[in-house]
Amino acid sequence: MSSDVRIPVLQVSSEIYPVLKTGGLADVCGALPDALARAGCDVRVLLPGFPAVLEAFSHRREVATFSLPWGEQAVVRCGHLAGVSCGRGTVMAYVIDVPGLFDRPGNPYLDAQRRPYADNHRRFAALAWAGAHLAAGIDPQWSPAVLHAHDWHAALAPALLKLWGPAAQRGVSSLYTVHNLAYQGVFDSFHLRELGLPEEAFRVEGLEFHGRISYMKAGLYYADHITTVSPTYAREIQTAEQGCGLDGLLRSRRDRLTGVLNGLDPKVWDPASDALIGSNYDAANMQGKARCKLALQRELGLERASRAPLFVMVSRLTEQKGVNLLLEAVPEILRQGGQLAVLGSGDTELEQALQRDASANPGRVAATLGYDEALAHRLFAAGDVTLVPSRFEPCGLTQLYGLRYGSLPLVHAVGGLADTVVDTDLATLEDQTATGCAFHAFTGSALQQAVRRAFALYRRPRDWSRVRQTAMCQRFDWDQAGEHYANLYQRLLAHD
Ligand code: ADP
Ligand code: GLC
Repeated sequence: MSSDVRIPVLQVSSEIYPVLKTGGLADVCGALPDALARAGCDVRVLLPGFPAVLEAFSHRREVATFSLPWGEQAVVRCGHLAGVSCGRGTVMAYVIDVPGLFDRPGNPYLDAQRRPYADNHRRFAALAWAGAHLAAGIDPQWSPAVLHAHDWHAALAPALLKLWGPAAQRGVSSLYTVHNLAYQGVFDSFHLRELGLPEEAFRVEGLEFHGRISYMKAGLYYADHITTVSPTYAREIQTAEQGCGLDGLLRSRRDRLTGVLNGLDPKVWDPASDALIGSNYDAANMQGKARCKLALQRELGLERASRAPLFVMVSRLTEQKGVNLLLEAVPEILRQGGQLAVLGSGDTELEQALQRDASANPGRVAATLGYDEALAHRLFAAGDVTLVPSRFEPCGLTQLYGLRYGSLPLVHAVGGLADTVVDTDLATLEDQTATGCAFHAFTGSALQQAVRRAFALYRRPRDWSRVRQTAMCQRFDWDQAGEHYANLYQRLLAHD
């Protein structure tokens, strides 16, 4: 960015690594503040006062209190958030503290029975209202020029910036990033009043979606600019097939829609310095990786076979992630002499099916159910192949971790997976651009075919290690994405 003036930007999200994470959204929101600071922005974040967030929050100052439209009182505090770096220190964070809404143990979105909380419409409207109040100048010490909202949880904020007078008068610009169009935050229309939304917003040219209130649509319709997390996904969501009913709106706003590819945070994901793996290694010295593989085989009760290709998958276990396809491919992986280790949590049926496979194939298949950040690192370090057979994938981060850790990604060529992995064929082997394996049809047989190709490559050790070298040298870092966002903010401020 050329200008010397640092643009004040407020990032609004429901998760942030390492404080609170259920998926890639947290990784992205945790890495962005520092990347944006390097790109010349004055970044602060706004988060809901979940217990984990309050625990990481220090040196708080009470900024203000305001009433939510349904009468509950909200306190906005400002302080530092431990663990999230930004420039030379930790990021400055605003937290909206409403214990009745956010002080609940466990998952930020789901109750103990994994059902969405019945008051999620209020919980995430509260987050957006806090963003709107900050945009309206509730903090005399700092206010944003750009509000950058992430996913449906923050998506009412760009709408309030247009619809709510005190914020609208300040002319704060908004950018809305879609991390996954499939999760939309759709609620009954009778909540409109209670959420403080004007009747005029409830129409097709607004946030109405099939007679209901759509937070996702609010973000897409009212934000000054929309981004999503890869160029291919930006195109895909403009089609009826992948547009989740919003492709028409996205097509009409295509001049205001940009794909900005996510990065990888090398402070967290680098096999040369990763403190969560047993032996460090890099592209020039791979012995540590072999040790990591043996250690993981021991840990998970897999046969200690250094030559058996180890396929790993770290994922939410949902239909999106292609778990059914993987289940179909397990016999092929085993027939060819491979091993499989999966770490994930999600749909009960998928969890049970993976557990059945593990019980039926002791020493060959391991399924660890639950969420385990450190084990995820050990899996990428130990793996030979990282499976990402997603039906759709806005960006995907585990294929980037697989590349960096030399666990070659095997992916369905969609969304960000298509943008980050180069399939291995004779031409890409020869010009040394190959970094993994990709398949195109979303079918069990296409995945199995790709699995066979991965084995064929593995049996050619020279080619295998060459592809692995290329993979490990790829740099999907945040600097590029940070610059890209900073340029978009600048365009917004110039009303371009
Ligand atoms: P998504 O956000 O759709 O779940 P991504 O690939 O963008 O997919 O990001 C997933 C992130 O969550 C990665 O950092 C991955 O390592 C992590 N992850 C997913 N499942 C687990 C799990 N069970 N345990 C630990 N980390 C997990
Ligand atoms: C979403 C997407 C994933 C993306 C992540 C971070 O959860 O499903 O593809 O990598 O957000 O942007």
